[in-house]
Amino acid sequence: MLKITVCVSGGGTNLQAIIDSVRSGELKNVEIVRVISNNPNAYALERAKQNGIDAVCVSPKTFENREAFNAAFLDALKASGADLVVLAGFLVVIPEIVINEYRGRMINIHPSLIPSFCGTGYYGLKVHEAALKRGVKITGATVHYVDEGTDTGPIIMQKAVEVKEGDTPEILQRRVMEEAEWIILPKSIGMIAQKGFGK
Ligand code: GRF
Repeated sequence: MLKITVCVSGGGTNLQAIIDSVRSGELKNVEIVRVISNNPNAYALERAKQNGIDAVCVSPKTFENREAFNAAFLDALKASGADLVVLAGFLVVIPEIVINEYRGRMINIHPSLIPSFCGTGYYGLKVHEAALKRGVKITGATVHYVDEGTDTGPIIMQKAVEVKEGDTPEILQRRVMEEAEWIILPKSIGMIAQKGFGK
């Protein structure tokens, strides 16, 4: 059984996709042991509670300094017993102590085809605004291992999505979620559960 802890900051639709995949039996031998958010108001925490999953908030705002938050975040991850850490819309810079502890065992979903529209400053709607501004005809999503950089770790899986005439950033974001993110994130977790960790 692959134990996973999912880190979230917002609505949690990617978390919900994982929950639904486990429940439907599509995602086998995977157990979500904890959901961690930096944001006490993240609806993703509500989704965890609705599904009987341990939901923990570790907010930087409640610690005296960043080092104290980093240590508490690492403690919360280790205490969960996770084999794999999944970043699903987690808007926190991952501290080096966590990167080192989970190297090769932490993955992230990014809403573009890396290496396009990624790196510092490219998150949420900003990614889709940049894609529309550039005029790309195809975008998509990427699941990758997390390393010291921002969206720079080895790529695990990608899925392309068509950009359509008249797309707004919001419309494109939704299509990338529905047609790519919610498919390749559970699939990537399933591949790791079945075949083990990659690079
Ligand atoms: C998604 O667009 C994801 O690609 C990005 O942050 C957003 C999270 O959405 N990393 P949700 O919280 O999973 O709904």
